[in-house]
Formats: sequence, structure tokens, C-alpha cells
Amino acid sequence: MSAKVTLHMVSSLDGFIARKDGSVAWMRSKDTYENGVALSEEDIAEFLKKIDCYVMGSRTYEHALKLGWPYGNTPVIVVTSRDLNSEKLSVSLYSGDLPELVNNQLKPKYHNIWLVGGAMLSKEFLRHNLVDDIIISIMPVILGDGTLFFDYIGKEQPLHLKDVTTYKDGMVELWYELT
Ligand SMILES: NC(=O)c1ccc[n+]([C@@H]2O[C@H](COP(=O)([O-])OP(=O)(O)OC[C@H]3O[C@@H](n4cnc5c(N)ncnc54)[C@H](OP(=O)(O)O)[C@@H]3O)[C@@H](O)[C@H]2O)c1
Repeated sequence: MSAKVTLHMVSSLDGFIARKDGSVAWMRSKDTYENGVALSEEDIAEFLKKIDCYVMGSRTYEHALKLGWPYGNTPVIVVTSRDLNSEKLSVSLYSGDLPELVNNQLKPKYHNIWLVGGAMLSKEFLRHNLVDDIIISIMPVILGDGTLFFDYIGKEQPLHLKDVTTYKDGMVELWYELT
């Protein structure tokens, strides 16, 4: 199996991935969709076990540290031009050429690489053709304001729809492959 970069983002229906104040309560839905799939903690843990590397921008990293680290001991690459303090052994900082990072450093070493945001770094990855798959989890909410996922990438990109999954909490997951 060849190595793959999957860009994953949780979005509101109107395309926002973060509120201005950074609060994340909107990501926990109170909706119910009877025909949707219900995932158990075990299902989620099993799925996450298959991810062998995460990549994120520095703002996402700083936010994750504040909210509670959800990445366990899986290797995490934080893209930043700053000399950030990283006391976690699983975290490495990277600054520089993104194709060099993905093609020469990550893909030879890892199989299932997840780019988990934020918007700024994701757009850079898309502009450099470094994303293989995109998974968007759309929550049943309109936020009206905040950080947009796809604002002005400046590039057209055809996609192949691989799968759609609907969940019990009203979340819809769209899985695309970049063609
Ligand atoms: N809904 C979701 O699924 C989701 C997922 C992830 C994040 N978020 C939210 O999104 C927000 C953060 O997103 P964001 O778009 O503001 O920021 P971001 O993409 O997480 O981080 C941006 C930073 O990454 C670094 N960076 C980006 N491209 C770079 C490059 N080519 N070379 C070197 N460094 C580079 C820069 O860091 P330096 O300034 O340090 O140089 C830049 O300031 C947070 O509120 C977070 O909680 C939501």
C-alpha cells in the first residue's frame, strides 16, 4: 500500500472550521438522525490506530495543547517558522519546503498521514498538490462567522467522490479523492 496524505476537517454547513473565539462546542452535535451510523469508542480507537502520522499548522497545534492533546503518542509534525516550545516527545517542528517534507521525509516513513488543519496549512498543501484524499465532516450547524476552510485557494481541483457516511448525530462525512 502506498503512502497517502488525507486532509481531514470538521466544518459547519457554511464552511467554517473555527469560531472567532476558538470555542469548539459546535463540534458536538445535539441533533439526531435516525438512519445514521453510531460509532462506539472502540470503533473510533480502532480507526485512529491506523493513522501513523499527523501534520498540522502551528495555530492548530497551540489550540490542541490548550484543549487537551487528542493525538496520543502518534508522531505529530508541526509546521511553523517559529522556535516553538514542544515538550512532547512525539512532536517535531518543521519549517521549510512542504513538498520536501511530504515526498522525501513523510511518505517514505509513514503510510496513513493525516493533515488535520488548520485552514492556512491545508490550503498550502492543496496548492502544492500534496493531498491525496479529503474527508470533510459537516456538522449540522451554520456558524455564520469564523475561519473559512476553503477561501480562495486560487486553483481548480476536480475530485472523485469515494464515499458518503451519515451519522446518528447528524454529521455527514464526505470523502473525496483528488484526481
Ligand atoms: N474544524 C476543524 O476540523 C479544525 C481543524 C484544525 C484546526 N482548526 C482550527 O483552526 C484554527 C487554526 O487554523 P489557521 O488556519 O488559523 O492556522 P493553522 O493552519 O493551524 O496554522 C497556521 C500557521 O502554520 C504555519 N505555517 C503554515 N504554512 C506554513 C509554511 N508553508 N511554512 C511554515 N509555516 C507555515 C505558520 O506558523 P508560524 O506563524 O508559527 O510560522 C502559520 O501561522 C484554530 O482555531 C483551530 O482550532 C479546526
